[in-house]
Amino acid sequence: MLRPSIALGLAIPCVLLLAGACGGSSSAGPSKSGPRDGDAGGTQSGLSSGLPCDVDKILADNCRSCHAAPPQFGSPMPLLTWDQLQAPAATDPSKKVYELVAARIADEAKPMPPVPNARLSEANRQAIADWVASGAPRGPETCGNTTTTRPDGVSCTPSLSLAPESEWEMPEDAGDEYVCWGVDLSQEQAAHITAFVPVIDNTEITHHIVLYEAPSKVSGVPTPCSAGSAVTWRMVLGWAPGVKPLELPPEAGFPISTDPAKPTHYVAQMHYSNPQKLKGKKDKSRIDLCTSAPRQYEADVMAFGSQDFTIPAAPGQGGQYSIDCALTVPSAFANLHLFAAMPHMHKIGVAMSTTLTPKDGGPEVDLGTMPLYSFDAQAWLPINATTKSGDVIRTKCSWTNNTGEPVRFGEKTADEMCYSFTMYYPRIKSSIWSWAAPASGPPIGATCK
Ligand code: HEC
Repeated sequence: MLRPSIALGLAIPCVLLLAGACGGSSSAGPSKSGPRDGDAGGTQSGLSSGLPCDVDKILADNCRSCHAAPPQFGSPMPLLTWDQLQAPAATDPSKKVYELVAARIADEAKPMPPVPNARLSEANRQAIADWVASGAPRGPETCGNTTTTRPDGVSCTPSLSLAPESEWEMPEDAGDEYVCWGVDLSQEQAAHITAFVPVIDNTEITHHIVLYEAPSKVSGVPTPCSAGSAVTWRMVLGWAPGVKPLELPPEAGFPISTDPAKPTHYVAQMHYSNPQKLKGKKDKSRIDLCTSAPRQYEADVMAFGSQDFTIPAAPGQGGQYSIDCALTVPSAFANLHLFAAMPHMHKIGVAMSTTLTPKDGGPEVDLGTMPLYSFDAQAWLPINATTKSGDVIRTKCSWTNNTGEPVRFGEKTADEMCYSFTMYYPRIKSSIWSWAAPASGPPIGATCK
């Protein structure tokens, strides 16, 4: 039963990996998104798209990492040529694609590019709006915009892999599917995980991944799972298109169990999307791990937020309801360095933020904010803070409940959560400590209103 699918000492040639993993950092801009696998996003140059050059460039820079040919990461159509923008839209054939483009780049609730990617600049939004308002005419000349894929590399070479035991085949008629598989990880030699590097196999259907640690073993065979997450699962990593691999600070690493009787139980929750109803699409995406000899500090994950709330059946103001939880840092977890946050709610979550207000009156520090939370784009956010005794950590979760029923904390798809999973070091080793303690309510955890 031990680590059946862990390729030990896996030597991955540079070419198979994200290009950037071998040659150091790429010249990509900081907020750019892009698929990581080879040239999955498609590279096109020289040929005329038929689009005016400014429009063509905006689409090349911001949209074609997903809206390529074939479309990637669950996006429904390519946005490469004038003809493709004149076609009837996939979801509403009474409209043309360019009309939906204008609508979605201005859509405050469901913008394109999707969260967690950066919104289009005001100037770019205006350029597209002007073009659409003038009837979306052809452009005269050849623009030669090149759609570059922007590999987001890591500085290390993966040596282990968390992979499913078999491929998942996406049913043709399932628009969305949540699929779980588990891997037990232990190693003879003490080692630390220093980076998590998602390797997306089928970029056409893979929409989003969340990696958890579970208290017990989960089958390695990909199996449909709830779209929620178990209350006892602790989130380690979130990946959505455009999110970089997570590399830990050089002084910290996640310890790997050296006790084969007590391996770490990882669970990957894959979110697949098949809006085009493609037949026979299979996926075997995995998460590669860089490892090293134990580093100075052990890293760990804890959760801020709450486990005790009920969202009323009919909250006011369009179904909006929020909780605001405050935790005064006890001396037991002072002097912790916080370096990554993964806000986590379920499907009716709309916004989430965590902040730290220093006791000594310094400026408020952001510990992970998603003003437009989406269950389908959960991702880790880089943060940088050190806790001091008496600091106040506040987590706000907002939901829109139009279900007509009260919604409680829990693990079913219809339940909700408010956890801001936070990576920190050095690991708290007290035997009475649990990762959920800060979210467990008084006397140890936060008080919510
Ligand atoms: C990270 C991947 C990604 C990027 C980048 C991206 N999209 Fe999308 N797009 C999607 C996905 C996935 C969907 C389907 C889900 C949805 O509608 O929200 C979609 C849907 C759309 C739709 C709706 C199509 C329909 O028929 O309903 C439009 C229009 C669109 N995108 C335009 C754009 C534009 C314009 C850009 C760039 C400014 C862009 N997208 C960037 C992934 C992406």
